[in-house]
Amino acid sequence: MGASFATHMLLLIWFFTATFCLSFFKAEPHVSCNEKEKQALLTLKRGLTDPGNLLSSWSSDQEDCCRWERVRCDNKIGRVTELHLSSPLDADGLWFDYKKRLGGEISPSLLELGFLNYLNLSFNDFSLSHIPSFLGSMGNLRHLDLRDANFSRPIPHPLGNLSGLRYLDLRWNDFNRAPIPSFLGSMGNLRHLDLHGANFSGLIPHQLGNLSGLRYLDLSFNDFSGLIPHQLGNLSGLQYLDLGYNSDHLYADNLRWISQLSSIQYLGLSSIDLHKEVHWLQIMSKFPSLSDLHLSYCQLDNLNPSLGFINFTSLRVLDLSENHFNHEIPNWFSNLSTTLLQLDLMSSSLKGEIPESLGKLKHLEFLDLSSNSLNGPIPQSLGNLSEIQTLFLAQNQLNGTIPQSLGLLTNLEQLDISNNFLIGPVDEEHFTKLSKLRSLDISHTPLFFNVNSNWVPPFQLQYAGMSSSKIGPKFPTWLQTQKSLRLLLISDSGISDKVPDWFWNWISNIEVLDLSSNRIQGDVSDIVLNSTFLNLRSNHFKGHLPQLSANVQGLNIANNSLSGQISTFLCHTMNRKNKLEVLDASNNLLSGEFSHCCRYWQSLIHLNLGSNNLSGKIPYSMGSLVELQSLRLQNNSISGDIPSSLKMCSSLGLIDIVLSELRFLNLSQNHLTGKIPEKIGNMKVLESVDLLQNHLSGEIPPSMSNLTFLSQLNLSYNNLSGKIPSSTQLQSFDALSYTGNPQLCGDPLPKCTVEEKPPKRTPIGKTEDHFENSNFYMGMGVGFPVGFWAICGILFFKRTWRHAYFKFLDDIQDWVYVTTVPNVNWFLEKLKSHHLSLPPRTKFQFPALSPVMMEDKATFRLECKEACYLAKIIQGNGSKKS
Ligand SMILES: *[C@@H]1O[C@H](CO)[C@@H](O)[C@H](O)[C@H]1NC(C)=O
Ligand SMILES: *[C@@H]1O[C@H](CO)[C@@H](O)[C@H](O)[C@H]1NC(C)=O
Ligand SMILES: *[C@@H]1O[C@H](CO)[C@@H](O)[C@H](O)[C@H]1NC(C)=O
Ligand SMILES: *[C@@H]1O[C@H](CO)[C@@H](O)[C@H](O)[C@H]1NC(C)=O
Ligand SMILES: *[C@@H]1O[C@H](CO)[C@@H](O)[C@H](O)[C@H]1NC(C)=O
Ligand SMILES: *[C@@H]1O[C@H](CO)[C@@H](O)[C@H](O)[C@H]1NC(C)=O
Ligand SMILES: *[C@@H]1O[C@H](CO)[C@@H](O)[C@H](O)[C@H]1NC(C)=O
Ligand SMILES: *[C@@H]1O[C@H](CO)[C@@H](O)[C@H](O)[C@H]1NC(C)=O
Repeated sequence: MGASFATHMLLLIWFFTATFCLSFFKAEPHVSCNEKEKQALLTLKRGLTDPGNLLSSWSSDQEDCCRWERVRCDNKIGRVTELHLSSPLDADGLWFDYKKRLGGEISPSLLELGFLNYLNLSFNDFSLSHIPSFLGSMGNLRHLDLRDANFSRPIPHPLGNLSGLRYLDLRWNDFNRAPIPSFLGSMGNLRHLDLHGANFSGLIPHQLGNLSGLRYLDLSFNDFSGLIPHQLGNLSGLQYLDLGYNSDHLYADNLRWISQLSSIQYLGLSSIDLHKEVHWLQIMSKFPSLSDLHLSYCQLDNLNPSLGFINFTSLRVLDLSENHFNHEIPNWFSNLSTTLLQLDLMSSSLKGEIPESLGKLKHLEFLDLSSNSLNGPIPQSLGNLSEIQTLFLAQNQLNGTIPQSLGLLTNLEQLDISNNFLIGPVDEEHFTKLSKLRSLDISHTPLFFNVNSNWVPPFQLQYAGMSSSKIGPKFPTWLQTQKSLRLLLISDSGISDKVPDWFWNWISNIEVLDLSSNRIQGDVSDIVLNSTFLNLRSNHFKGHLPQLSANVQGLNIANNSLSGQISTFLCHTMNRKNKLEVLDASNNLLSGEFSHCCRYWQSLIHLNLGSNNLSGKIPYSMGSLVELQSLRLQNNSISGDIPSSLKMCSSLGLIDIVLSELRFLNLSQNHLTGKIPEKIGNMKVLESVDLLQNHLSGEIPPSMSNLTFLSQLNLSYNNLSGKIPSSTQLQSFDALSYTGNPQLCGDPLPKCTVEEKPPKRTPIGKTEDHFENSNFYMGMGVGFPVGFWAICGILFFKRTWRHAYFKFLDDIQDWVYVTTVPNVNWFLEKLKSHHLSLPPRTKFQFPALSPVMMEDKATFRLECKEACYLAKIIQGNGSKKS
């Protein structure tokens, strides 16, 4: 998978380079452009929306349309031959610029361009319209690139008339589960056909086997099913074939047809069940030019050559991750030493020790053995992998010390040995020559740092994961030399020291910081935090809550010794521009009343101020926290009513319709009085309500029966009375949810002695329910893509970084749980609604999703490329609340 990604990226980069060079191409003196064609281009421009002003040079003042940007002509006859209309790259140069996408209508005036042979409309947004059928009349077209232009089904039949077409790219559109139109099989000159991730389904038409000129065929990341047509074996010129990551029901009878693909260089069959192919190694090793082989998730269970020897002569990339080999790493990998660059054996149930012989793969740049059951030491011979850039050995049972030879790997950029039983010191020698190292993960190992306090490492890290290893008790001073860090995770790393003076300034460029569960001391009253996510939980910080720049999206500073009035923080002028989504300051000594400054905190999604010393009433202004999904104020001294409605003219109540996003409400162990507001029934997505140990009185409002998502309820130890309203919802809890209310009765408590009139229930129609629900998911999205993108952006073009990403999520488990779970749900929902293609076995879930998921790391192989891509779509399209 990784290699396929790399290849895609190379292609992509190549593509951009090519497009860019071409668009800046300045022609030599030539015949100037044809007036009719000029008018046609101007008409085309008028139909298009062009928010980025990409077509600003297209104007009637500019005499010669052959000199317009993105237009190329045949100089001899002055006729337009090429149009390069894809959106440009964005500022970071990694992806196209969503804000500059062309859209609108593609005018049939294009038909005037009778000599057009190259049309590129990629990375635009044609709002799920159809591909214009008049394109089928542009008989000279050789190259049609409609990649990621937001076209939808159906693909017009006339396109089949483009018999001269050689290059057709429809990747990343949304053809809404259409089958591949069989007329593609009659476009006999096609050399390049890319239908990757375009939401096609159904059978792969056998007619594709007629495209005898085809060199490149990518059908991956769709939802194809059924038998792979053996006619594909007729494509003897095929060099690139990817059928990976389709539905579970896409299968191959046998692989005999594959052996006819004598020119194949790239073969992707990931997620196709091949466990019956005992001779797969022999079959695959027959191709003289095979360089990339991707067999991830193929249910393979055998790595032993069944017929004596294998003969890969040019294999460069081998991805066998996510299989079930259940045996040791065989020695024959070292037979690939002259060619192999990448070997991915992640999560393949490998056992035993890492063989010394892997050290012979002298050209290897990428080795991933993580998430297996490998034991024993890291072999000294890995120090011979002088080209290695990425070495992932995480999540095994490796023991012993780290061989010093690893310090000689001059090209090493990423080292992950986390979650092993490795022991002993990590000292300066281990890094002697690692000047290119930018990602280091030693977390969850018994390793300890043993370096001089004045050590200046040869590297500049971007990612440092050292949680649950030992880098304390002194604050590691060498960190100060690291100027490029973006993620620093040193939770539970035995630091018991004062924060050094340089620290708060130094972290201001770090995006994600986790210092939790150490014994770090310091007064945070006067600091200004600037990181996107900070986890400072369970330390010895004191003083007032710190100030926040507009970059901070999440702050967990729970379980410290912070004191002072909560209103000082909420109303501080510096904090008024905050974009905070998550604040957990529970388990501190914060005091005082809530102020009316809630209106400055409208991005808050999760607020936890439980177990402090807060007093006074819940202000009406809390109703302005319209994004709030979880409100936890338990174990304080808050008194008064739960404000519920428009009691004051200008401010809305907490439980009014404005808080319709709330899912978790915990006000337990306070001094609340009055009734549970009837309007609680408006908070339709409530999942958890904890009001135990207050002084609430009156009846349980019948509207609570409307809370169909409610799965946790505790109303114990109040003064509630009367009959518990009957509904499947409220009766699904046991008596423990209602105990300590002597005057409360009815199922699940004992029967009431006086029968009361049946409760009024507000009926809710099914459709309305559904509607509410989808709104709910939409609403939650606000703010999420931004945060998600902040992390994913780093990972985007660096496939291997996703390991680090998952590690990162692992390390801040609960906290991220709070941050992401609802958003992930939303994201999943979004994915479903887009019907966008993901690898079928890629569970789109984050490690923090649930404890069960935590155990099965293998399911977290999220293809970040796809995910980020989707995140960008969502971000681009916006997801404002309706
Ligand atoms: C395409 O191939 C099928 C067999 O797969 C054959 O029956 C048919 O005649 C071919 N069509 C064309 C246009 O070559
Ligand atoms: C391995 O393959 C190459 C090229 O296909 C061939 O020349 C060579 O004879 C093969 N070696 C063996 C031992 O089969
Ligand atoms: C690996 O190479 C050795 C000698 O070069 C050969 O004897 C052995 O059969 C090869 N292993 C396989 C599995 O091809
Ligand atoms: C590593 O390389 C050195 C020199 O090239 C060689 O002497 C040594 O045997 C190799 N070690 C292993 C374990 O392959
Ligand atoms: C490493 O683990 C193996 C068993 O997996 C054990 O036999 C060996 O003694 C251990 N070595 C060290 C240095 O702990
Ligand atoms: C709070 O921090 C202390 C150490 O400072 C730790 O022992 C305790 O488990 C933490 N409690 C919570 C709920 O995190
Ligand atoms: C809690 O706040 C009250 C005033 O509201 C104060 O008297 C009391 O000392 C505070 N308790 C703690 C532990 O700070
Ligand atoms: C509600 O809280 C009380 C008091 O802490 C506890 O005894 C009871 O088990 C809780 N009920 C539920 C359903 O968690």
